[in-house]
Amino acid sequence: MRYLIAYYTLTGNTELIARTIATELGAEIEQINTEKPINISDFTKFSLSNISLMHSIISRKKMKINQPAYNVQDFDRIIIATPVWMNNSAPAVNSYIDCQNFMNKDVVLIATIAEKGNAQNTLSVMNSAIRKRGGKVIATQGIGIEKSEQEIVEMARQFAISLGSL
Ligand SMILES: Cc1cc2nc3c(=O)[nH]c(=O)nc-3n(C[C@H](O)[C@H](O)[C@H](O)COP(=O)(O)O)c2cc1C
Repeated sequence: MRYLIAYYTLTGNTELIARTIATELGAEIEQINTEKPINISDFTKFSLSNISLMHSIISRKKMKINQPAYNVQDFDRIIIATPVWMNNSAPAVNSYIDCQNFMNKDVVLIATIAEKGNAQNTLSVMNSAIRKRGGKVIATQGIGIEKSEQEIVEMARQFAISLGSL
């Protein structure tokens, strides 16, 4: 089974999970990057461009991303991992889904959340976007990041193992 895992990360949690899963499955891994980098300070400073960034997130806008290195059609299963931002996927992930052809591909979705966060809305919106692009979502998982790094790695590893029985 050829797996690709594509992820976006701002503060590293989603990357840790993506790398753990990639190691477990022997997957190719790809980081989704915006053309114009986003910094965590963009969310803490008050400016017009930051308001516009927040607006992009809640209105599920896309954002210009660097050209992906891999074509999802070259894989059997594609795992897409995003942080949850304001109850939505990161705009870069929306752009990634929009620029790939998922026709007849099995897709797994992961959303990382803060303590007491809820990944349901994010996962269901991403699920619809994948379906529109011809793909079939075979599993979704929200992963809370309030645990220790070791626990997060173990949770990601167990999730990767569970994909083997699907
Ligand atoms: C701008 C912003 C908005 C966020 N909104 C939510 C949210 O709505 N729900 C939630 O559970 N977590 C939210 N979080 C927390 C992140 O989803 C969580 O820390 C995630 O693991 C970060 O992933 P990363 O380290 O890969 O960037 C938000 C974080 C940021 C920076």
